Parts: sequence; structure tokens; C-alpha cells
Amino acid sequence: MDIIKTPDAFQKQCWQWRAQGLRTALVPTMGFLHDGHRSLISHARKNADKVMVSVFLNPTQFAPNEDLDAYPRDFENDCRVATEAGADLLFAPDPAAMYTPDASTWVTVDGPSQGLCATTRPTHFRGVTTVVSKLFMLAMPCLAVFGQKDYQQLAVIRRMVRDLNMPIEIFGHPIVREDDGLALSSRNIYLTPEERARAPHLRKGLVRLQQAAVAGQRDTKALKADLAAYYAENIPLGRIDYIEIVDPESMVPQDTIRQKAVAAVAVYCGKARLIDNIEIEVA
Ligand code: PAF
Repeated sequence: MDIIKTPDAFQKQCWQWRAQGLRTALVPTMGFLHDGHRSLISHARKNADKVMVSVFLNPTQFAPNEDLDAYPRDFENDCRVATEAGADLLFAPDPAAMYTPDASTWVTVDGPSQGLCATTRPTHFRGVTTVVSKLFMLAMPCLAVFGQKDYQQLAVIRRMVRDLNMPIEIFGHPIVREDDGLALSSRNIYLTPEERARAPHLRKGLVRLQQAAVAGQRDTKALKADLAAYYAENIPLGRIDYIEIVDPESMVPQDTIRQKAVAAVAVYCGKARLIDNIEIEVA
């Protein structure tokens, strides 16, 4: 696997592969790769001739009060995971190479980037969409793979690609979980043993909510209140950031579940802010 540090060299290689008629796939990451990322890269490997992985801890999607400095890093392990999963190229630029000091262009998406995570992280999604646009312009991949754990991020990226006619197929990979149900996340490393022991209730509560909806409870206010009570009892150390039931494409909160919806949650657990979601389909 080649490691490339400069945007110019990355773009040259990726565009060369496209010129040769190869199908290319990009897996954008912020590093500290785990088995969730491994699955994204493996999916790309099965569906493309050339696989690029970017490892870039993007400063523009963190607010000044957030965990950019504390965010875990392990570049050696990133290289190992990417190689094992079958990447051909790893792009790991310095922030200064990605953003000139006078950079003044943002890519902002309205609609799905409102509410949920944006309520407490109002500048987060414009950082994501700006860096993902830059990565797309550099790599111009046929396919890009993202995890469904960041459900809102995926909806925002899909909307951006659609609205800007970006010729890139977006694949949302199902969430990869620990055996006890906790969604894999680089931020799980922040959890104390006590918090870690409680964290699987995030998923258990969502499954209960899904079952209640399928069994006939379609009133989202009641479903959300029940989930909040479940979390208060089972994750007493946690603080709910949000519990929402939204349309899976627009991310607009729903009063009543009709056909498809997604329940999404964010809960602060000590230093970690855990997110998870579940799709709901009712007849
Ligand atoms: O999901 C992530 O890891 C990041 O938000 C992404 C998509 C790599 C952009 O920095």
C-alpha cells in the first residue's frame, strides 16, 4: 500500500487510475481505524479495482470546545488496518496541506444538516461537507463508502452529492457492533469501565423502541419519552443530547411513524458523546 501525504500527488494518482478506466473507491476516515473502518474498506475492496483510504483528522468539523486535541491517533495501526483490509493507497495529509490560511470557501448543505447533531454542533456539518467535497475533488472516486452510524452525516452527504451532481455512488455501510451491541467508534476509548458496561443500553433502548413501533405504537412523543426513561434507568451516568425520530432522507422529525423512519440518539457518557440509530419500518 502506498502512503501519500500531498494533495497534488494524491490527485495525480487517483485521476490516473480513472484515466486507465479503473473503478475506484474512497473510504474517508479520521484515523484511529477499528473493525468498523475495516468493514468499510473491505466493502470498497470487493466493489472497486483501486481502493483509497484517507486518514485526516479534519479540524474544520470540530468546534473550539470539542475534542480535536484529545481525539485518539495511531498512524501505525491505521496503516496496518488499511493494508490488511486491502487498500491500495492511504492519503494522510497535514492540515496545512488541506487548508491554506486564507481558505474562504465552505460547502454548506441545508435541510438534513439541521437538528439532531447540529443542535449542539452547529458548525460540524459544514466542516464535514467541505472536507468531503475536497476529498471528492482530489480522488474523484466512482464509489465512496461511509458508515451508517453517522446516519445524519450520510444523509447530508447524499444530499450534497445529489444537489451538486457529483458523479459518485455513495454506499452507507451497516453499523459494525461489539458482541454486546455497542456500535464501534474511535471515541469508545474515552469510556471508563463503568460507562462501558452501561453503553450497550444505547442500542438495547433503540431495539425496544423499534419493537414498540412495529407492535403498533406510532406516536413518536410516547416512543421518545419511553426511551428517555429507559436511558435514565439504565445509563444513569449518561446525559441525553437528543432522542429523535426522523424521516430517513430529510432528517425532519416525525410526529407519527408512517412506513419508514429512523430513531437516532446522542448521549454524553463521561468524556464520550455516543451516537447510535435504528431504522424502523412499519406496515
Ligand atoms: O465520519 C468521519 O470519520 C468524518 O466525518 C469524515 C467523513 C471522514 C470527514 O472528516
